[in-house]
Amino acid sequence: MQTTTIADLVVRPRRMRRTENLRRLNRETRLSVDNLIAPLFVIPGKGQKEEIVSMPGQYRFSIDLLVEEAQALAELGIPGVALFPALPEESKDKMATEATNPDGLFPSAVRALKKSVPELLVITDVALDPYSSDGHDGIVRGGQIVNDETLEILARMAVVHAEAGADVIAPSDMMDGRIGAIRTALDEEGWTNTAILAYTAKYASAYYGPFRDALDSAPRASDEIPGDKKTYQMDPANSREALRELALDLAEGADMVMVKPAVNYLDVIYQFSRTSDVPVAAYHVSGEYAMIKAAARNGWLEEKAAVLETTTAIRRAGADVILTYFARNLAEWLRKG
Ligand code: PBG
Repeated sequence: MQTTTIADLVVRPRRMRRTENLRRLNRETRLSVDNLIAPLFVIPGKGQKEEIVSMPGQYRFSIDLLVEEAQALAELGIPGVALFPALPEESKDKMATEATNPDGLFPSAVRALKKSVPELLVITDVALDPYSSDGHDGIVRGGQIVNDETLEILARMAVVHAEAGADVIAPSDMMDGRIGAIRTALDEEGWTNTAILAYTAKYASAYYGPFRDALDSAPRASDEIPGDKKTYQMDPANSREALRELALDLAEGADMVMVKPAVNYLDVIYQFSRTSDVPVAAYHVSGEYAMIKAAARNGWLEEKAAVLETTTAIRRAGADVILTYFARNLAEWLRKG
């Protein structure tokens, strides 16, 4: 057996890891505040700021306090927020009527944000689950989530959001044909400058649990109502199918495409980054946030290091944009260095 002598070791990768400044030169992936979008939850009322039990450090804000939070995020240099409504039970019904009410909580919140922090991008969620008494992203009929009828509501909802001032419409429902339906409706109404961020590969994931707590929007299983979202969200086993969804969303006019959740789907993010000709986003979801928070609170993980490692890994896989509940923390950490 031949042994390696010191003279043979011409290549020593450790040379470039010796000091922090060498490591800076050697670094392949940069994480910047430019990459971050902060999800925010809005509730009715005034002066309300409720912590979400399963998402420590995240809140449901009434519009007045939402605006203050948005101002703080804008001052930190965060380009935009992704807004979600949490509605009381009495505002929900089977047809998700409130979803298209131009005077409802959600369009009012969008108007307030655009008035007080105009440069901050407002990305609006288009899906029926926060408004549906069945807790589904589409209309439920005969035990089915009906596709085409849902599309008509989503398209109207997108126009209501655009009228309220939304910069980017983000359909998160996974109905077939929604990007095309929304693009057509927006263009017909003159909203040609309103962009679409497609939730292109959204998986039927266990990691949305804390978000559904935040919105009280879990599917309400019964004989009539399916108890999960597997007939529209994707099977976690699939990646070829994600590329099919990507081709469809690009053909239908998506301006950005998203993979969700992020960490279990880094391979899908990577494949998107290789094929997509528009920016790729990744949603680091509520369960991913909750896991880090829970471990950190127990002293089992160092929070800042874990968050920086995780978000850098999402960037390394190929995400240009990261939706994360850690956006505010990250912006503060990245600013201080
Ligand atoms: C539903 C929606 C969900 C999330 C964003 N939009 C949950 C779901 O599909 O049930 C999840 C976000 C998160 O977990 O952080 N339209």
